[in-house]
Amino acid sequence: MATEVRIESNQRLRRMRMTSAFRSMVRETELSPNDFIYPLFAVPGKKVRREISSMPGVYQQSIDELVKDCIETYSLGIPAVILFGIPEHKDDVGSGAYDENGIIQQTVRALKKEVPELVVITDVCLCEYTSHGHCGIVHGDEIVNDASVELLTKEALTHAQAGADMIAPSDMFDGRIGAIRTVLDENNFKNIPIMSYAAKYASGYYGPFREAAESTPKFGDRRSHQMDPANSDEALREVEQDIIEGADIVMVKPALAYMDIIRRVKETFNMPTAAYNVSGEYSMIKAAARNGWIDEERVMLETLTGIKRAGADLILTYFAKDAAKVLARK
Ligand code: PBG
Ligand code: ZN
Repeated sequence: MATEVRIESNQRLRRMRMTSAFRSMVRETELSPNDFIYPLFAVPGKKVRREISSMPGVYQQSIDELVKDCIETYSLGIPAVILFGIPEHKDDVGSGAYDENGIIQQTVRALKKEVPELVVITDVCLCEYTSHGHCGIVHGDEIVNDASVELLTKEALTHAQAGADMIAPSDMFDGRIGAIRTVLDENNFKNIPIMSYAAKYASGYYGPFREAAESTPKFGDRRSHQMDPANSDEALREVEQDIIEGADIVMVKPALAYMDIIRRVKETFNMPTAAYNVSGEYSMIKAAARNGWIDEERVMLETLTGIKRAGADLILTYFAKDAAKVLARK
């Protein structure tokens, strides 16, 4: 008994914090550029590089500019990008999404030619391509499920045919992972993995992205398909469903208000788990830093470390290049 008490009193947790060498020896979570997936926005045209006003440092880019950006991204040790497209024309069925010469299909072909080693992931959804800004087809006031899923399978197939290395459905309709998996398999794309936006919440943090992707819904909202922020058990059911349907990587989105979900998903399923450090999370740090209220570099690294510590193996983040540059200096 007495010995136990003494062992306890001999413990001084500050000892291993006293020098930078000690701190780094016992550090549990280490960020690497290898953890990051960099999101990019493709637009029609040439020599276009338009900054998103609510996301300093993030641009809508034409293919020529986006290719240059990807060469830099890859040279920083970032293995993968995820692409979003803004089409020339929008219509009520989002046909630009599954046009074999659509903006994403062209961008993928250019990237696989110019930066073949870079992993090209494509976001699959209709909201950037529909005139009403919804993720699927709208009948009356309902965003319909099954007919929309059918269009998403066409979109995913054209991405794979263009050379995409991985498909990332972001819609949250029921059954879409299984439907896309089946269509890919039937067309000899058995080895193209799917990263599913498995637990994606109806979040106010997507605001700046909708400026970047020009995908704000013209009426209504996304609450009939994206998850209620109050729910956690339901996230596990969503993730389980996507795994059963064939998802290879499961994603939680957003990241910061959902760290508990990241942890539960990782511990429950032991799957490769991604977290999306979304646009609003990026913009808040940028805005506060511009006001001189926080140290941008420090808060960026602390945020990304926290997301990884919560259980994310991969982080989709607009900070990917900035963070990779800082990590290279350390
Ligand atoms: C499209 C999509 C969205 C994001 C990724 N894919 C927006 C939305 O659901 O409205 C958000 C990404 C971000 O905010 O950075 N379905
Ligand atoms: Zn969408």
